[in-house]
Order: sequence, then C-alpha cells, then structure tokens
Amino acid sequence: MQEPRAWLWRWPLAFLLVLITVVSTTHAAKHGDFKTCSQSSFCRRLRSLSERAQASGFHSPYSLGDGYLSDAAQQGGASWTFSLDTELYPDIHFALTVDFLSKGDGIARLRVDEVGSKLPWKRYNEAAKWALVDPEPALTAVGNVKKVSSKGQTRFTYGVNSDLELIVDHAPFKVTFRRSGEDIMYINERNLFHMEHFRSKAETPAQVDGGDAAAVSEQQVFSATSGKKDTTWFEGEPDAELWEERFSKWTDSKPKGPEAFSVDISFPGVEHIFGLAEHASPLSLPSTDGGRYTEPYRLWNVDIFEYEHDSTMALYGAIPLVHAQNTKHSVGLLSLVASETLVDVVHAKSGVQTHWMSESGIMDLLILPGPDPASLFKQYAALTGTTDLPPQWSLGYHQCRWNYIDDTDVLEVQRRFDEEDIPLDVTWLDIEYAEEHRYFDWDKKHFPDPVKLQNEVGAKGRKMVAIVDPHIKRTDDFRIYKDAQDKNVITKKSDGKTNFEGWCWTGSSVWVDFFNPASWSWWKDMFSFNVWKDSTKFLFIWNDMNEPSVFDGPEISMPRDNVHHGGWEHRDVHNINGMMFHRATHDALVVREEPAKRSFVLSRSFFAGSQRYGAIWTGDNMGTWDHMAGETSMLLSLNICGMTFCGADVGGFFGNPSPEMLIRWYQAGAFMPFFRAHAHIDTKRREPYLYEDPYKSIMRDTIRLRYTMLPIWYTAFHEASRTGTPTMRPQYVVFPKDDKGFAVDDQYYVGGSGLLVKPVTAPSVDSSQVYLSDNQPYYNYFTHHFYPASDSVRNVTVPSPLESFPLLVQGGNILPIRARARRASTLMWRDPFTLVVALRRQGDAQGELYLDDGESFAYANGDYVWRGFRAVSERGQTVVSSFDKASSENGSALTRLGSWASQIADVHVEKLVILGLETKPTSVTVEGEAGDLAWVWEDGCAATDKAEGTASRLTIKAPGVRVLREWSIRIV
Ligand code: NOJ
Repeated sequence: MQEPRAWLWRWPLAFLLVLITVVSTTHAAKHGDFKTCSQSSFCRRLRSLSERAQASGFHSPYSLGDGYLSDAAQQGGASWTFSLDTELYPDIHFALTVDFLSKGDGIARLRVDEVGSKLPWKRYNEAAKWALVDPEPALTAVGNVKKVSSKGQTRFTYGVNSDLELIVDHAPFKVTFRRSGEDIMYINERNLFHMEHFRSKAETPAQVDGGDAAAVSEQQVFSATSGKKDTTWFEGEPDAELWEERFSKWTDSKPKGPEAFSVDISFPGVEHIFGLAEHASPLSLPSTDGGRYTEPYRLWNVDIFEYEHDSTMALYGAIPLVHAQNTKHSVGLLSLVASETLVDVVHAKSGVQTHWMSESGIMDLLILPGPDPASLFKQYAALTGTTDLPPQWSLGYHQCRWNYIDDTDVLEVQRRFDEEDIPLDVTWLDIEYAEEHRYFDWDKKHFPDPVKLQNEVGAKGRKMVAIVDPHIKRTDDFRIYKDAQDKNVITKKSDGKTNFEGWCWTGSSVWVDFFNPASWSWWKDMFSFNVWKDSTKFLFIWNDMNEPSVFDGPEISMPRDNVHHGGWEHRDVHNINGMMFHRATHDALVVREEPAKRSFVLSRSFFAGSQRYGAIWTGDNMGTWDHMAGETSMLLSLNICGMTFCGADVGGFFGNPSPEMLIRWYQAGAFMPFFRAHAHIDTKRREPYLYEDPYKSIMRDTIRLRYTMLPIWYTAFHEASRTGTPTMRPQYVVFPKDDKGFAVDDQYYVGGSGLLVKPVTAPSVDSSQVYLSDNQPYYNYFTHHFYPASDSVRNVTVPSPLESFPLLVQGGNILPIRARARRASTLMWRDPFTLVVALRRQGDAQGELYLDDGESFAYANGDYVWRGFRAVSERGQTVVSSFDKASSENGSALTRLGSWASQIADVHVEKLVILGLETKPTSVTVEGEAGDLAWVWEDGCAATDKAEGTASRLTIKAPGVRVLREWSIRIV
C-alpha cells in the first residue's frame, strides 16, 4: 500500500480528497490496521484453551465411537468414518473420516465435520477443491491398509513398505502417526481439539456492542443444548462476540455464529519445524509463547503497508503447511483450510508443539509421511501440483517501477540498457498505464499505440508485463464493469444479493467473484487478442492487490460476511481468493495463442496450489538491510511450501537505496528464482545505467551473471516442475542429517546444481562466513579458491568485497553455463556452453542440462533435450562425458528426435574448466567427436587436499563437442 501523492495529477480534485482521507486513515498505524489474536473472538476462544489445558483434571471432551459410521467395504477404498462425540454437548455429533490415499507413498487424510445439524448451515468444505490437483484424491485399495480394531483403539498399518502406522485412540480422541515403530506426530495429544458446533442465535443471549462476557452466565449461553452442563472448564467463559464482532469501525455480522476449530499437533523429538509461508520470520519457526514472538503465526492474506522484517504478522499469502525435521526423519502436515488460521508454536523439551486455530470450515489434515525432505516435496506435489515450466525468458531480468510513464519512457529505458550492454528481458507497466486505473484500457495520452509499442519491444526479443488488478471501476462506460454486472459475477454483500462496493486505486470499485464458474470463460475472453485489441503476444500479466485489497474495508480487505458463489461467506474462502484470480488469468493467457503458449502471471496473494498458476513475489518490502536479509528466509520458506517461482523487489519497494545497498540487492536478486527490480512511485529512478562506475559495472556484471546461469535455473525449474523440489534449497533440504544446518537460512543451493549462494545483506562487508555441511571441497565460482570442508572445518570465510559475494560450487557438480553476454535471454538459444567441472574428493562429478524451445508446450510431447554430464576418475585418468539423461531417467530417448533437438544440433561446448585434478595431465583427447582442442593447466589444490588454496585448473578450449552428442574427453 502506498501514499497517494505522486499520482494525484491525474485525478479529479473532489475524488482525490475523498481518497486521501480514506487512504491516509487506513494507513496511519500499520499495527492498528490488523487484528491481533486477542482482537479476534475465535482466536481468543481457542488460544485460551491451551492455558486451561494446564489445569489438573483437564482432558479432551471428545471421543470416538468404537464402531464405524461407514467403512472401506462400503466405499471400495481405504477410508473409515468414526463418530466423534463431545461430552460437552451430548446432542451434537461430528464425524472423523480417515482416508489413505493411493498417491504420494502413503498420505493419510483426516477430516472432521459436524453431522446431523438441524440448522441450515454447512461448514466450508471446498478448500481441497481449489488447492488440490484432484479434490477427491483416489484412495488406496483397502487391501493395502491393515486395520486392527480393539476396544478403544484402531490401528492402521500402511505405506509402500507397510512401515507406517496411524493409531487412533478413541477416548480421548488422539491420533499417533508412527514410522518403523517410532512416534513421529501426535494429533490432539494436548487435548486442544475442539470444533464449535452450529447453534442458533436464540440459544445464546444477544451479545452485541461488546456486551460484558463475564456477566453472561454459562447456563444462559448453553442451556438449550447442553442441559446445563458446565462447559467453561473447556470452552472458557462465553465470548461476547460470538454473533457479531467489531474491529475498529467495522462490524462483522457473523450470520452463522461461532464455528471455529482448533487442533494441536506435536512433533516429538524434533527441534525444527518449517513452513507456514508467508511470514517475515526465520525459516526454522521460533516459538510464539513469549521471547521473540508472542503472537501466533497468522494466515490471513492482507495488503500490509511497510511490513515488519521479523514478525508473525500476516502477509499477502497463506500456505498452511509445516515440515518437521530431525536427523532421523521428516514429516509434513497440510491443513486445508481457507479461513483465518493462526498457529502457535512451542519448542518444548519433548519436541515441537503446534496449535492450529481456524475461524471456519471443516478440519482437513493431510499427513505427508516423508521420510526425508525430497519425499515431502513429491508428496506435496502429488497433492497440490507443481509450477509448470515457466517461459524461459521469465527467468531473465525484469525491470519494473511504478511507473514508466509513457511509451517513450519504456523505449528509452530499453535503449539505455542496450547502450550499456546490460541484459534485460522484460519491461513492466504498473497501474498508471491504464486510463483511470481501468485495467485493460490503456491511457492513450501516454501510450497512444500500445500494439506498436509491444511489437517494438517484442522485435528486440523482449517482453512486457502490464498490471491487471482485481478491483473494477464502477462506471458504466467501462466494458469490464458492464460485463461483470450483466453476467452477475460480482462478489455480494452480506445480504447475498447486492454487489459489494469498496475503494481501491480506481476509486469506487467492485470485485469479480472468481469462485463463480460463470466468470471463468468470460475472463478468458478478456485476454483474447480479438477482445483486448491493445494486447499482443508480447504482453504478459501482473495480478496485484488480490488478497483482495480494499482500502476502506476491515484489515484493508473485504468484509468477512460478504458472500461468494455457492453462498459461502468471504471468511470461509478468503485465503483462496487471490489464487482464484491468479488461476483465471493464468488460464486465459495459456489459450490466447494457437498452439498454446506458456503463461506468465505474477501474483501477490497465494494459497496452497498457487504454484500451478505462476510466480509470486514478497510484496512491498523496504529498501533496508534488515528487509534484504529477511528475504532469503522468506523465499526459502515459500520454496519449501511449493512456491518455487518467487522473488522480492530488488532495491526494496520503499526508499532510495545507496549504491552499495542496491548492488547487494542485485547480487541477491540475481539468485532469486524471479529476478525483478521494482520501486515505489515516490522513489528516485534507480535503473543500473544511471550509476557511475564502478557501481554501474558491478550491477551490469551481476545481471550478466544471472544470464550466464540461466541454463542452471531452467534445469532447476525443470526438476521443480517434475517433482516439486525447490529451486532454492535450504541447508536442511540438502543435508537432512546435519542438524547443525537446520537453522541456517541465509544461504542456499540453486536447484540440484551444487551452487551455494550467500547474499551479503549488511553494509561495509568484505568477508562472509559460509556454513558447509559435508566433507567435500567447495570452489569459489569467481576465484576458484578451494575450501576443503571437513569434520573440523564447517565454517569458511569467503571474501565479499562489493563486487563479490559467496558463490561456491560444491565438489561433485558440473555446471553448464552460457558465458556470452546478450541483450535478452531469447537471443541465447544457439550460444555455446561452458562446463565447469568441480571434482569431488573421490575425483568424480555429475551435472545435467535441460533445454527446450522455452515457450511452447511441445516439451509435454517429448520435444526437449535433457542431457547428463559426468566425470569419473579411475586409474590415474579422468573421463568427462555426456549422455542422454532423458533415456536414463524415464526410458524415453525422445531427446534426439524432437524438433528442438534438431534446431540446436550444432550447439557446442566451447570450453571445459576442470577444478581439483591431482596432477597436470600428459594428454587430453576427445572421443566420439573430432575436436581440435587446446588445453591449459594451472597448478593448485587437488580435490583431495586438506588445506585451502587456489584449486588446480585445467581449461580445455574448443573441444569441438556438441551438447547433444555422446562424447567423452579423456584426461590422462
Ligand atoms: C502494490 C504492489 O505491491 C506494488 O508492487 C505496486 O507497485 C503497487 N501496488 C501499485 O500498483
């Protein structure tokens, strides 16, 4: 969110006065704009449970029936439903369904819903519909699960190796997840499971206007259903805001009353849990019971102004997923709920305890069995999908600011990049390109011929991105508004009939309800070139403000009692709202060309599954060192939560960074999956070419470094698209046995390449410490300095003067890079490769390279190139060779047959640099292809050495080998 100052010049005065009042009041105090737990009735009710649970005699009132309401025999798959009752309300019933899924190596699913309510309400049960690839994932065959029932307990044995157990204790209700006889996860061990049943308002006394909760007797509140049973020992004193809740000047009418639920989940023997993106907190989540944090991690997508760099406050996206990790196992838990959810974390002696509190919806927990991080990624991907291969150009450098003011500005910026030989793929247009912020309608005073502009940009091999926000200006001469009205796809107020209206950039606005299927094909049409005549195939889209941001709404969003398609309240679906918009735009872009092309849509808001629709970024960060430092752990957290295509505003959205800070931002950004510089409208221009040397040259070199590394990024995205494995991998993911690395969140590996990066995020730094988990040599990418890690050397010091930062290659890896600088990535497809071979102590190394046309879906039919490289040392010789990874991985030898392969058949390896050989070779020869090679030897440390120094380096020039061919280079 931003101050309105710089865009005042376009707006009628009266309108601006209103807006200034609105915006300045909503932005005055950022903390005051957002609820804390104690300002939220359901969070007060549920969080206090954990305090009451300390009392002696406290127990769970919930128990399961010994029989089944339905079982596998009836369902044809491994699914059992238990009755779940509470001693608090004998007339109220719940059901617990336990499913065992066929995909994902033994994922178990636990769902709880109220059954038999006489009231006309349902708990929201559609989060899975939007988050999962398959909303009702297939069950494993009943025969794959062994069930042993005894009085008071049901024990399920399952999983591909039959080593998983789910032990369901009936009274009190408790679930234990075990692997190989070891307890890994407990559900309701602390007796905090609670699901508030639907009740009629008549059963509770009217408690509006902050009625005095303490004065309301328990009998008054619950007498109708409970027969005057005392429930306060468990539920606490009745809360005054069960039926109507106030926050600041807003009132939430809460038509269904209380329907929150709570569950505790503990991870015994674990000291680290990760996940719950998006928060500006460390990757290994600290406790929330005092000390660093006192508030639970809040998942409620918001547009937050100047967010704090170290906080549990809610941000723009929500992924209710955790990984728990110790040196023996990994386990994951996904809670599919889209209403406001807060999670307390406590690091206890016995392990990590979590307490999940959600405002509405069914409880839908998925237990990802692990046993290691790689398996967790596959399991999560089996459920929620992966990021499709992005268009290759989208991994290049993006130049954005709020705003490039007209077409001359756009072209001039590009001209300056060219003049200074700085690569650039994409120029972005923020909201000012649109007439009165009516997205789709270009401001023709400043962009008289948008098609010509896009074509000119496209002719240079570049692309443009324009913003399309979800608020729609309420003016009858705006076709989008007209259509949305005619189709009746606008989100409704609490009466379910009247269109909801609120304020955003464009003034008085409405919001399309993307939960409504009637909006989908219409939205697709909006992006067709026949309909949006001012768009071309060079234009891609940015979906911002989709939490949604409503300037005059509660917590700068929609009222929770707004109504969506199907009659669901906004509170039920809020955290999915942004994903639905992202999804609709993604689906539209994919089909606008024939044959279909990959889309690129950047979204600010997201939920579990959003990775399927494109990239996200971390929103309005500040140009401060603290924010820059915090980005690494945020992006790592997003990555392990499936959002592998993510980035942060390089330079910081707010503020005017010093040249030193800007350079450090660029160095960090060049190693973010999504690399975009962006700045607030009030900031000074800061395109790299505006700086004097050496700053300009350092930024140029940094952007060029990104382009050199594009094959590595693209290969990492290929892996992510197949397996969900992060493109940025934290230490615990790469070394799940090294618990000393579990809390390390300021460095990471790029995909599976072995490149280890640690951005410099503080001023006046000239060296950095890097933590190394394994006993392998690491090589400085820039200097080829050699760092032999060992049991006694875990931290090494890497020089980090302004023009450099720790970028190490782990021994054992071969990096395929493209070293020639180009104007844009689209011009690099025929460029030769350099292979950097970093030998392991054992003298070997491996690497891979994935290539395709970068923009179509032909790869889905096998039209791609996936090569492997290996180096093997035996009996005094080292052989570096190339092979077809596609056939070795999935038995298909399509690599050679595809049309892409024939187009790049002549692409050569122009150079190999081999680091860490023992001795100077006597001969270097090529087999398989006739090369005319030359080689140069520089003495230095061998991979087996134990002391630091410069690595030995063998540079082989022009070996004459082609990337697509099988060849080997023998070094004797
Ligand atoms: C908020 C976004 O976070 C920011 O990146 C953008 O520049 C402004 N909206 C204006 O569109």
